Amino acid sequence: MASVSHNLEQPGAAGSIVLGIESSCDETAVALVTADRTILAQRIASQEAEHAPYGGVVPEIAARAHAERLAPMIAAVMDDAGLTLDDVDAVAATAGPGLIGGVMVGLVSGKALAMAADKPLIAVNHLEGHALSPRLADAALGFPYLLLLVSGGHCQILSVEGVGQYRRLATTIDDALGEAFDKTAKILGLGYPGGPKVEKLAREGDAKAVPLPRPLKGSKEPHFSFAGLKSAVLRAHESGEHIAADIAASFQQAAVDCLLDRLHKALAQNPPFPALVVAGGVAANQAVRGALEDLAASHDMRFVAPPLALCTDNAAMIAWAGCERLAQDPDFAGDPLDIKARPRWPLDPEAEIVRGAGVKA
Ligand code: KG4
Ligand code: ZN
Repeated sequence: MASVSHNLEQPGAAGSIVLGIESSCDETAVALVTADRTILAQRIASQEAEHAPYGGVVPEIAARAHAERLAPMIAAVMDDAGLTLDDVDAVAATAGPGLIGGVMVGLVSGKALAMAADKPLIAVNHLEGHALSPRLADAALGFPYLLLLVSGGHCQILSVEGVGQYRRLATTIDDALGEAFDKTAKILGLGYPGGPKVEKLAREGDAKAVPLPRPLKGSKEPHFSFAGLKSAVLRAHESGEHIAADIAASFQQAAVDCLLDRLHKALAQNPPFPALVVAGGVAANQAVRGALEDLAASHDMRFVAPPLALCTDNAAMIAWAGCERLAQDPDFAGDPLDIKARPRWPLDPEAEIVRGAGVKA
């Protein structure tokens, strides 16, 4: 279990303190964050070892692991910061979207703490956590910004216009990009979780060696598709004509090309944005970051990418989303304690359902 804490000497120096809980996938995470952007304490327990034998996240194993770990982790984080629940202004817990068993474990814990300490409960959309996390790291990042949200479950382009104001400009019609990285890793026998392993192997390969498709490149709407790319990776591997490093490098290049093409389209179809922001687990990928940085420079936009620890799932982003909600409405009394966990919860409820997108929230 890794633990990180900053600025322990000044807990609560300015503004509210929010306790955040994250349990929507395979990371159990707890954090205490202040409205002035200080992470007082945070702990993240990865379930990598539990899921590795299965090559992917097993929902029942995830829920059980969250249930076993969460209570001691909450106690440890409070202890790390030298605080009690009385010092906390609100409890923020991920309420979806995600693996429902895990989400329920975290949300129920958040409800119990909120009720016991008589503090407001803030039910946070996990995607909103990712979408706002760049503002935790960067006080100068104002609204609006163009957000590329790329994780294991999601691949979206969003116009982030304010807290609670998100316009989805594009989504994936099949797989998320992180999922494509994970499946490529599985095909190449690299194990789970795949993204970082594909990136590492890609450094030793030739990105031009394997001809792979760029699905939806040039199409009218800026949506994504990665299922065909994954199948092409499988065919390339089964052909026996290529070494794994070349397949990894060529896959990563194809993925980056798709991101750039789709972002170019979104930029062309919308008014200019002052900043391009990337969030979600795939934002940890250096090739992706580099390409986005160049794209932003060529469009006169600032490029903002949160530190790696804030890109993958964590609880600081959930606590921060809670801080943002409190700052937006200081009289906010909290979400109802009977609020339900949601396996699907789109950030932009107005967005049209894109054909083929049914399996992704
Ligand atoms: O945001 P996240 O931690 O969880 C979800 O909400 O999905 O994202 C996890 C995803 C996984 O698919 C993982 O393979 C991918 O992010 N990922 C990466 C890298 N690090 C994590 N993909 C490519 N390159 C990386 N370095
Ligand atoms: Zn996530």
